[in-house]
Amino acid sequence: MPSVREKIIQAYETLAESYNALIDHKPHNAYYDRPNTLALMPEVAGKSVLDAACGPGKYAEILIERGAAVTGFDISPKMIELAQVRNPDKGTFYVHDLHQPLDRLDDSSFDVVLCALALHYLPDWNQVMQEFHRVLKPGGHLVISIEHPFFEYGFFKSKKYFETEHVHCTWKGFGAPVEVNSYRRSLQECIIPMTDNGFLIEKIVEPRPTPEFKALDPRHYEELNNFPSFICIRAIRYNQITK
Ligand SMILES: C[S@@+](CC[C@H](N)C(=O)[O-])C[C@H]1O[C@@H](n2cnc3c(N)ncnc32)[C@H](O)[C@@H]1O
Repeated sequence: MPSVREKIIQAYETLAESYNALIDHKPHNAYYDRPNTLALMPEVAGKSVLDAACGPGKYAEILIERGAAVTGFDISPKMIELAQVRNPDKGTFYVHDLHQPLDRLDDSSFDVVLCALALHYLPDWNQVMQEFHRVLKPGGHLVISIEHPFFEYGFFKSKKYFETEHVHCTWKGFGAPVEVNSYRRSLQECIIPMTDNGFLIEKIVEPRPTPEFKALDPRHYEELNNFPSFICIRAIRYNQITK
């Protein structure tokens, strides 16, 4: 029986090609997550950015274009191949699992850590937050986007808000249906691992879709203007762990 982690890797290996082919204009990514998450990024020209769980390197492409030196990693080898093809001779991309310490990265070596739409694949965020804290320079920024805990509570028909639950659903927007496993958690279980591990939350955005979304998917445009699916957070690295 494959573990949840193995199922997640398998799902993204299956999804990688179509995810990459659609990522430039897929409404939830291009006209909902990315504009709102990028709006939280500080100026990146001349800065070093770690793109954690970089997928096929679309964020990296944008950040490199803005003058950042980008290092990206992902658990899916296919995603990393696609990130390298998308960003030839630019950036550094390698296969790595967020469950593991970021051993090849030095302390205080990044100005910004970005982690878009990936933390819900981890059952526990404490170690990853400790590692993001370690590799960030003092005063550096962590920018994340995640599925909104209130959206997930309804979508997965949970009856146990305060528990972190293993959940799964079927994605049909990337070709053949693919089962995607993840972990649903409460809002405080998103916030506490950040604030316990040396981050001060500066800004929280419950995003709205941009006008381009409406033409491509009017039904979800309407839904997302009434209730958020994602939440985007910017935090700053404190000098010391405050726990
Ligand atoms: C929804 S995609 C987002 C990709 C990219 N951040 C973006 O927004 O375009 C989620 C990504 O997280 C990666 N992922 C899932 N679990 C991971 C883990 N434990 N370590 C590293 N990457 C992981 C997947 O392989 C996938 O590429």
